[in-house]
Amino acid sequence: MEEFMNPKMRDELAPPRRTPQVVASAAWHSLLWLVTANAIGVLIAILLLFPGLNQALGEWTYGRWVTVHMNLELYGWTSLPLAGFLFKVYGAGSGPTANWCRPVLWVWSAALGVGALSWLSGYSSGKLFLDWSGYARILFPAALVALWLLLVFTLVANWSYAENTAIATRAAKLMGLLILLLVPFLIYIASSPAIYPAVNPDTGGPTGASQLESSLAVVTILLLLPFGLTQRKAGYTRTIATGWIVLVAESLLCAALGRADISHHLPAQYLSLGSLLVWLPLTPAYYAAFNWHSNTRRWRMAFLWWWAALVVTGWVFFLPRVLDHFKFTDGLVGHSFIAMAGFTSSLLIFVMVQLLGEGGWIFNRTRSFYLWNGSVIAYVLLMTIAGWREGFDPSFTIVPGIFRNLLYVLRLLSGILMLLASLDWFVDASTLLREPGTDTGTADFAKEKTA
Ligand code: HEM
Ligand code: HEM
Repeated sequence: MEEFMNPKMRDELAPPRRTPQVVASAAWHSLLWLVTANAIGVLIAILLLFPGLNQALGEWTYGRWVTVHMNLELYGWTSLPLAGFLFKVYGAGSGPTANWCRPVLWVWSAALGVGALSWLSGYSSGKLFLDWSGYARILFPAALVALWLLLVFTLVANWSYAENTAIATRAAKLMGLLILLLVPFLIYIASSPAIYPAVNPDTGGPTGASQLESSLAVVTILLLLPFGLTQRKAGYTRTIATGWIVLVAESLLCAALGRADISHHLPAQYLSLGSLLVWLPLTPAYYAAFNWHSNTRRWRMAFLWWWAALVVTGWVFFLPRVLDHFKFTDGLVGHSFIAMAGFTSSLLIFVMVQLLGEGGWIFNRTRSFYLWNGSVIAYVLLMTIAGWREGFDPSFTIVPGIFRNLLYVLRLLSGILMLLASLDWFVDASTLLREPGTDTGTADFAKEKTA
């Protein structure tokens, strides 16, 4: 595609020579929440070992902290890098809106802080990952609207400046804004217990269709991401087209599948979910069709390996008898970890490294790379073993015993190592913020515009 690009577009997508400071700020905010949420993770891992300690915590006991832990990992650590991605795609880091990026990140973090306090104080919709209620239910969507408005102003301000930009790129940015506008409203509406209750008797349990649906949403994100991050290599059109054709074919398969009361014991259900295995060779091939900054190599490999592990183990978990054994056990906590601490986290670090360019060194220290990935692997193995035992004996994780305690102590240790790795990144991100960046304020933008 490069050959069809005008110089401005090529420049927009080239890896930055110096660190874009607004992306560094987004990385700093997300790492702040990673460290906070991981510290809370360590606390809840201790509470599971010593439940008596809950008494010292007054009303802020395990059940409230676990909600805060999960939401801060999701809406802080795994969401704020996407704000950095949007800053880059819409060009918010240079131009008249550059000075507004940081306040918007602070509004997001403040809303998350209010959310955390409200969950600790016992206010919650009771819905997993949609616990927003009271003030927090308005503040967090409002923070998302603030980010959206910033992107709108950026697009308007850059409209004439970017007149050389291809019409397709402009249309994609407009379309992106329309889709993004839905998110705050959907979060607000879905957080209401009146829409569907926290425990929903109308859902018929897991189906191949529902698992395939959400996994295909992840595949769509995987296929779209490179277009906002870099350029295509020449001569790979077929590979990229194959990726999109397979996605469309699987979406049609998914639409044709039975839902609701359909059992995961039906071959049509588990075989169709097995169609995801095609992404084992396709995803690395697709990503090889794009130019990446040399700094990304380590985390690109990591996220592709975690993705392969997630698809294979997720499918095996769904199979008849396997899911019946692991249902409601620590085995699924292990799956959540492969998905979020393994795959999603390494994907987002890879995205941040590409966006930061040379500044991506903050994620590339050998010690924190192996500390993080090694501890996540250990955590997943420990939870799979605990879940396997729990499948035979549901009291295994409730009644303290030597084996259970050993697994939980080792889980605590791997959690402490993950916390240390995240602290390492956070300290380096704070250093990066003090380095001179590529951002240009309003004056520089005006100079560039007239040049
Ligand atoms: C220092 C590292 C961490 C520790 C010690 C830790 C600890 C814990 C503990 C003890 C639980 C409760 C498990 C249970 O229900 O028995 C939990 C749940 C969870 N954590 Fe973490 N965590 C850590 C990091 C993370 C990260 C990085 C993510 C995501 C990016 C994450 C996402 C989750 C999710 C989604 C659950 C709910 C799992 C489920 O119920 O299936 N955690 N964590
Ligand atoms: C980033 C992608 C993914 C995320 C964030 C994710 C997250 C989760 C979470 C949080 C749960 C609930 C765990 C619990 O009840 O404790 C879950 C369940 C499950 N996931 Fe995933 N998952 C992902 C991808 C996949 C994939 C690709 C597959 C299959 C190929 C899969 C198969 C399953 C199965 C079979 C269950 C159990 C459903 C049940 O019976 O409750 N997941 N997932």
